[in-house]
Amino acid sequence: MALVALGVTGGIGAYKAVEIARGLQKRGHDVVAIMSHGALKFVGEVTFEAITKRRVITDQYAPGANADIEHISLATDIGLLLVAPATANVIGKFAHGIADDFLTSLYLATRAPVLMAPAMNTNMLEHDAVSRNLATLTARGVRFVDPGQGYLACGWVGKGRLAEPDDVVEAAHHMLQPSGSLLGRMVLVTAGPTYEDIDAVRYIGNRSSGKMGYAIAAEAARRGARVVLVSGPSSLPAPPGVELIRVRGAHNMHAEVMRHAAEAHMIIMAAAVADYRPAARASGKIEKSDAPLELALVRTPDILADLGRARTGRSSPLLIGFAAEVGDPVARARVKLRLKQVDMIVANDVSRPDAGFDLDINAVTLVTRDGEEALPVAAKTAVAAVILDRTERLLAAV
Ligand code: C5P
Repeated sequence: MALVALGVTGGIGAYKAVEIARGLQKRGHDVVAIMSHGALKFVGEVTFEAITKRRVITDQYAPGANADIEHISLATDIGLLLVAPATANVIGKFAHGIADDFLTSLYLATRAPVLMAPAMNTNMLEHDAVSRNLATLTARGVRFVDPGQGYLACGWVGKGRLAEPDDVVEAAHHMLQPSGSLLGRMVLVTAGPTYEDIDAVRYIGNRSSGKMGYAIAAEAARRGARVVLVSGPSSLPAPPGVELIRVRGAHNMHAEVMRHAAEAHMIIMAAAVADYRPAARASGKIEKSDAPLELALVRTPDILADLGRARTGRSSPLLIGFAAEVGDPVARARVKLRLKQVDMIVANDVSRPDAGFDLDINAVTLVTRDGEEALPVAAKTAVAAVILDRTERLLAAV
């Protein structure tokens, strides 16, 4: 049981924070609510006081709040600072170290982990200023529960609604009570396609949805691992408790994987990384004409093979690749296992109508130096669990 500081800021989702406070309590945590001036316009402080059984903090300068310099004493007492909903405003202030109220001062004063659940209009969420602030906070170790798609209070339908209260509670609980068979391990997962830009509007991509990699990342987090998920373009939300790094092309993915590889105990490359990219990205948009258009393509870096080479002579980190093939994927997987110097290849026949790209189910064969194991067609979440069972076994043998 831990004390959670629940920062509530001024979005319509503020009323859902009441349910988040209840959910945290049901998991055995104690909650102190801190409301911004904006939040008070949406929900009354008495609601939170009645639920949390604690005085709600609404003002840094309220009489009594400074007797023990409350934001400093609370800063050391809390196990987690959770902000839900988090507006563009509070995200911007956290990113830039502006401390003009209790919540923003608490952020600077605490060394507790920080989790934020952004909620705002789609255009605000996609604004460059907000994206940059989110990236700054991610790089600083702040975790996020991604907003969902749906009907927004402003009348729009799009991305930006506060994540479901249960998902926010699960992510918070996970950060407070890490447990499981992968506790203390760092698992780096890649997922989704890569987009290789041809010009300002066109790209070369592939049909990967990211579902398999996201399922593996979610399962590894459930097992207590610290999980960094490097994802190519995908519409999937970040799984609870996972650090999501979004990339676009194979080069960005290479850079992010290499940046985190040294800390990883296990790297699972589920991404469908492009093998070729245009030799040059045209500036602007290529004008069409009646003549055929020839595109010169060059190889992208093979991230997995680079990891295998860099590991020569050592057994850590454990390296797992995927092989999406048409026809007999196992024979090709065996060649890749050797050439890329990895510990397991998850072979996937993508020509099967009942498995593979963009489906919720998959049929794979796990190929290791010791043999192969064909798994029956199953939900990608179930396949993820078996892949992790087997990799945990390999990890124990390292
Ligand atoms: O050689 P092939 O593309 O079939 O190998 C697939 C495996 O290698 C996958 O795990 C994929 O994520 C990884 N890969 C990579 N970098 C590339 C291409 C594939 O890491 N450029």
